[in-house]
This record gives sequence, C-alpha cells and structure tokens, in this order.
Amino acid sequence: MCSGLECACGVSRRRLIGVAGAAGAAALGAAACGSQESGPKPYDAVRGTVVAKTGEVPVGGGKVVIDGKLVVTQPQEGDFQAFSAVCTHAGCTIQEVERNIHCLCHGSEFDIATGDVLHGPANEPLEQLSVTVKGEDIVLDEKSPQGGR
Ligand code: FES
Repeated sequence: MCSGLECACGVSRRRLIGVAGAAGAAALGAAACGSQESGPKPYDAVRGTVVAKTGEVPVGGGKVVIDGKLVVTQPQEGDFQAFSAVCTHAGCTIQEVERNIHCLCHGSEFDIATGDVLHGPANEPLEQLSVTVKGEDIVLDEKSPQGGR
C-alpha cells in the first residue's frame, strides 16, 4: 500500500504518477507493491478467462494486464507468452513492456520470451504462465506449464 510520498516497496508517488498519469496513480499505486507471500496468486483469479486480445500485444513487446497482475508478450509473431507481473526483486508489479519487461521500481529488466533476468537487481526470473490463443482471444490456462517456475 502506498501512502504519502513513497510506497513501502520504495516506489515514489511521483514515479507512479509519471507512469500512470494522475488519474491512474492511485489504482496503480495500490497495485505496484506486490506481495511474495505464498497462497493464491493474483493471476489465479483470471485463469480460464480472456486476459488480452492478440491485437493488443505487439510483436517484439507485450502488455501489462493489471487485472490478474500478469504480463502477456509476443516475442515472435504468433508466439504468445505470459508471466506473473510480480517482480522477483521486491514484489512490485511490473509497469512497462517494450523490447524487455521493465520493473520501474529499481530498474530490473526481464526477457519477453523467457522471463529471465536481463538486468538486476532481480536475480530470479519471472514466474512463467501458459496461455492458449483462441482466435483473437488470449486465455490464461488453468494450469502453469509442467516444470514451470
Ligand atoms: S521490485 Fe525492485 S526491481 Fe522490481
């Protein structure tokens, strides 16, 4: 939870506003500081549902899906991947995907194809999820990949 000028995880309110705009800062702020506790994960609530449309996910990039805290990427045309958006460094919610997946809290970057760390301080990959494409719909599978993280 964020209050005052900084979240408990170290994200400044100004940084959040810069990312989300003033109107979305409160909502993003509440979502920005995640938890790494065990138990149900945010994405469990959206398993079996459409989490994005194929046209929303650029080739060579991706999209942050706030509802469920996940990231959907398309590293190669027609190859859709999904990862938990909870940063493995300190639990912030990933805020940005360009060529890489970016956590703006402390600057970690992850590979859009594998979730592997490209730039620290994170030293663990993002949790990989699996999706199925049905027409234009990208559906988060009921189960994570075998041997998934
Ligand atoms: S929480 Fe520190 S880089 Fe993501």
